[in-house]
Amino acid sequence: MSTAARNTPVTVAVTGGAGQIAYGLLFRIASGAMLGPDTPVRLRLLEIPAAVASLEGVAMELEDGAFPLLDSIDISDDPWVGFAGANVALLVGARPRTAGMERSDLLAANGPIFTEQGQAINASAADDVKVLVVGNPANTNAFIAMSNAPDVPAERFSAMTRLDHNRAIAQLAKKTGAPAADIARVTIWGNHSATQYPDVGHATIAGRPALELVDEAWLRDDFVPTVQQRGTAIIQARGASSAASAASAAIDHIHDWVLGTPEGDWTSMAVPSDGSYGVPEGLISSFPVTCADGGYTIVPDLSLDDFSRARLTATVAELEQERDAVVDLGFAKRG
Ligand code: NAD
Ligand code: LMR
Repeated sequence: MSTAARNTPVTVAVTGGAGQIAYGLLFRIASGAMLGPDTPVRLRLLEIPAAVASLEGVAMELEDGAFPLLDSIDISDDPWVGFAGANVALLVGARPRTAGMERSDLLAANGPIFTEQGQAINASAADDVKVLVVGNPANTNAFIAMSNAPDVPAERFSAMTRLDHNRAIAQLAKKTGAPAADIARVTIWGNHSATQYPDVGHATIAGRPALELVDEAWLRDDFVPTVQQRGTAIIQARGASSAASAASAAIDHIHDWVLGTPEGDWTSMAVPSDGSYGVPEGLISSFPVTCADGGYTIVPDLSLDDFSRARLTATVAELEQERDAVVDLGFAKRG
């Protein structure tokens, strides 16, 4: 294949490289699905020492894909090595919740991981690094990493609510019979947790307001709880948390951040609040955003009815509690 028209290679660091999500994610990154068909990729795969042998097997499979865009694969268990020069950092690896663990235990267990990774990104990543945190609790892990990377502009840290966004589109498509491609302007507000608020108040289906096509009772009693509980439903059905759909959403998140959202539509990303919609500044909360030229803008001035406002308030309250917990544990500063 000719390399004449190719862009400069992009260095992509991925933690949790031997995990379930990475097994879906890495091959799509290598195929060009994330950064486009003209951008070669240098993969930096990170794991804990105990999983490095397994990661070597994943790297062998990546080699065997003979991907024309895959420039190189490096493996490390040291974040200072793995994030060096990274233009994109996908923080997928996290300490999973095990039996008997409360959410507060999960925050405490992940604090040291995201503290160290934030510091390593601060010290060694490329000047233009973009960070996506997938590992749960994603918003607050991103808040910790951001807090430990004072030299990286805060707006480069994000957490993934694109899976929730895609789930919301899928539920609307199923209900109305419209193709997913016809659905635009869906929003996920708040935390990637069961308090998130999937909002179709401004959504359109083939250009028509979604609110003309679905009734309020279905939205309130079916759609909202189904999207909020979808992660749990998948764990119950599959015996493991969503992996391929999470990988696909991570591809979509970075794709749109780097290459832009379609004209007339927006996506959902959890990003540091600038105070929009009354969300406290610095809190990593999901918003509707448009992306262009490698940056994003929170969609301004959307109207929120009382139902929506109450749900936004509830999910933001949960994010504030999580932030306060990790600040009290010494993993992050308040803002
Ligand atoms: P997994 O357990 O299969 O894989 C996680 C991998 O991360 C493991 O191989 C583990 O060794 C590795 N890891 C742990 N700590 C690490 C560290 N400090 N550095 C590098 N690697 C490390 O889990 P998975 O199914 O791939 O899920 C990964 C995370 O994504 C989980 O926290 C899960 O809850 C979360 N998740 C988020 C979303 C979302 O929408 N935001 C969706 C699905 C899953
Ligand atoms: C998901 O939304 O599928 C996951 O975040 C669920 C989980 O708890 O891992």
